[in-house]
Amino acid sequence: MATGHPMLPCQRHLFDIPDDVAYLNCAYMSPLMKPVIDAGAAGLARKAHPWELTPDKFFTGSDEFRAAAAQLLDCLADCIAIVPSASYGMATAARNLPVHKGQTILVLEEQFPSNYYPWQRLTEAVGASLKIVPWPESHDWTAAVLKYLTPDVAIAALPHVQWTSGGRLDLVRIGEACRKLGAALALDLTQSLGALPFSVRDVQPDFAVAANYKWLMGPYTTGLLYVAPKWHGGRPLEENWIQRANARDFASLILYTENYDAGARRFDMGERSNFALLPAATRALKQLLEWNVTQISETVGALNRQLAAAAVELGFSSPPDELRAPHYLCLRRKAGIPRELPDILAREKVFVSVRGSSIRVTPHVYNSAEDRDPLVASLRRIAVA
Ligand SMILES: Cc1ncc(COP(=O)(O)O)c(C=O)c1O
Repeated sequence: MATGHPMLPCQRHLFDIPDDVAYLNCAYMSPLMKPVIDAGAAGLARKAHPWELTPDKFFTGSDEFRAAAAQLLDCLADCIAIVPSASYGMATAARNLPVHKGQTILVLEEQFPSNYYPWQRLTEAVGASLKIVPWPESHDWTAAVLKYLTPDVAIAALPHVQWTSGGRLDLVRIGEACRKLGAALALDLTQSLGALPFSVRDVQPDFAVAANYKWLMGPYTTGLLYVAPKWHGGRPLEENWIQRANARDFASLILYTENYDAGARRFDMGERSNFALLPAATRALKQLLEWNVTQISETVGALNRQLAAAAVELGFSSPPDELRAPHYLCLRRKAGIPRELPDILAREKVFVSVRGSSIRVTPHVYNSAEDRDPLVASLRRIAVA
């Protein structure tokens, strides 16, 4: 829904996307921006001169990443841990959130595996069970979740956007309902953070993770994990030297300590200082902050609304605009979607995904009407075939 924010002009000049490529697949993987590649290349080159990588550099780059991530999430930098993947963040949440025999962990039907398997494993370990919110015919995932949030739920493990439908969850309402019940809230924001406004202050999750390589426009194998202050005393997945309180003093690392570094830093992955990838990830976050997430959402949402309207005329259906995430369009049709469709479209240099029984169309600010038209032309050919 439009909120009156100005649209961003097309940002394609920052990317290396040939004119004849209609890349509408950010939910698969965003292209890296040129300045992000430059930051990564400069970071990689630093190891050509290791004598210049002084111990303080193990901390400054990480804290710069934390600061940018915190701004995006609307929380304190102390609450950010650096992780390699969504699954790592979810495993950290699963290690720390309590659940007892007979209780349940809430997930959505067709939830992404990295936010399913850790909970399945945890329920098996403690004698709890998974409670799966069925796909709502009405497309209203929020109402469906609220219906299933009953006193047996110990943890709600949810996304902001259901990844095979594009359905948007109202996490503020869901967060409130969880707090009322005393249930914990663990979020996978991989398909939303950076493209859909989100605020830790409003939602108050216990844990929230996002892999960087999609809507955060960063490199693969980097991600961020928000950890609420009440869990800062928790147990990390790994016990590595840099999480500990004495890490800044390299000469004294073998004076083993029980104490961890401040805040969520104890949950950082080993080698989190990542001199090659972290500067690239930080550069991408800074660009998103400069564009502004609300403006990204408005801009990409406008393109998707045009695409949705054209697709509906061709016999496709999508969840109503008010129930789906603006940046994430999933198109279905009665006759089904051929699995080989992405390959057929790729021959025409139109790039989308098929997930579940939907064509998933996920543009970004590098797309324009010039990318819309080839997709609509391809959909028209499928519709008459
Ligand atoms: C909803 C969602 N979560 C997480 C991921 C990535 O998970 P991981 O970082 O564990 O590979 C994806 C990738 O497609 C995804 O769609």
